[in-house]
Amino acid sequence: MKILITGASGMLGGDFTVAARELGHEVIALSRSDLDLTDQSAVETLVKEHAPATVVNCAAWTDVDGAETHEEEATEVNASGAGYLGAAAAAIGASICQISTDYVFDGAKETPYVESDPTSPIQAYGRSKLAGEETVRAANPNHFIVRTSWLFGVANQKPNFVETMLEVGSTGVPVKVVHDQVGSPTFTGHLAAGLARLIETDSYGIHHMAGTGECSWYEFAEEIFRQAQMEVDLIPIDTAAFPRPARRPANSVLVSEWETPIMLPEWKTGLAEYLQSRRTPSPDEVPA
Ligand SMILES: NC(=O)c1ccc[n+]([C@@H]2O[C@H](COP(=O)([O-])OP(=O)(O)OC[C@H]3O[C@@H](n4cnc5c(N)ncnc54)[C@H](OP(=O)(O)O)[C@@H]3O)[C@@H](O)[C@H]2O)c1
Repeated sequence: MKILITGASGMLGGDFTVAARELGHEVIALSRSDLDLTDQSAVETLVKEHAPATVVNCAAWTDVDGAETHEEEATEVNASGAGYLGAAAAAIGASICQISTDYVFDGAKETPYVESDPTSPIQAYGRSKLAGEETVRAANPNHFIVRTSWLFGVANQKPNFVETMLEVGSTGVPVKVVHDQVGSPTFTGHLAAGLARLIETDSYGIHHMAGTGECSWYEFAEEIFRQAQMEVDLIPIDTAAFPRPARRPANSVLVSEWETPIMLPEWKTGLAEYLQSRRTPSPDEVPA
């Protein structure tokens, strides 16, 4: 299948590009310098020129706190840009897979969220991503909207939560982590494989796809240090003790109500694979 990937130099985009190529797909991997989603005519031109069977949009404004003061810019990328892509794909008969987020929910539910639960984002980023679901749905009937959560992956220059914990944990100072936000950590390698399976189906609509199981950020940190065999003085704190510009949902655990959903492995398995892959040198680093 010919797949056009946007945001290909991001964390998920990088892993999805690798996964799709390994499966033998013909992949057009575009980073922001190749295609800025907010440039509607460039989106139309490139999608038409490459004529993919499907477009997988991994590009997004992902700075959750920054979106509070730049909501318009975040919405331009996450909603308008996603809609341009959806429409450009529809114009050539291609499907679109739009990556969305657990932050479309307010976190007040006491059990895991399913696809049909009402959305109610509590920060600008979530509003912009929810608007993106709507623009994509309106632009292209053949849409997969995949909500995922708490990503960590190898293909990224920005530090993810696992890297941050490994770094602060090695300093010897006590590490404080919030214990009152619960979610589903997701290894992008596993999500990439799930997306690759999904786009080969015609199961259009919203899909929740996250690491199986749930934990708090505190429990996630505990498991990181356990698997990395690090002795760290880990202290649970309340969200209120760690104020940030954007509010986060207290519960954003995602499960699927599809009859036969694409299930990802347990988040702890994802963590183990992630830690293993960051220890394994790439072929160019191995001495000949
Ligand atoms: N990270 C998480 O925990 C998480 C959780 C739930 C859902 N998601 C969703 O998962 C998807 C992938 O997230 P990620 O963590 O892999 O993000 P990421 O590493 O921040 O990658 C996003 C990519 O989008 C690119 N981009 C930003 N603005 C663009 C524009 N105007 N045109 C084209 N490309 C643009 C970025 O390029 P630059 O770096 O050059 O700006 C970056 O390469 C996103 O839709 C995100 O909302 C993420």
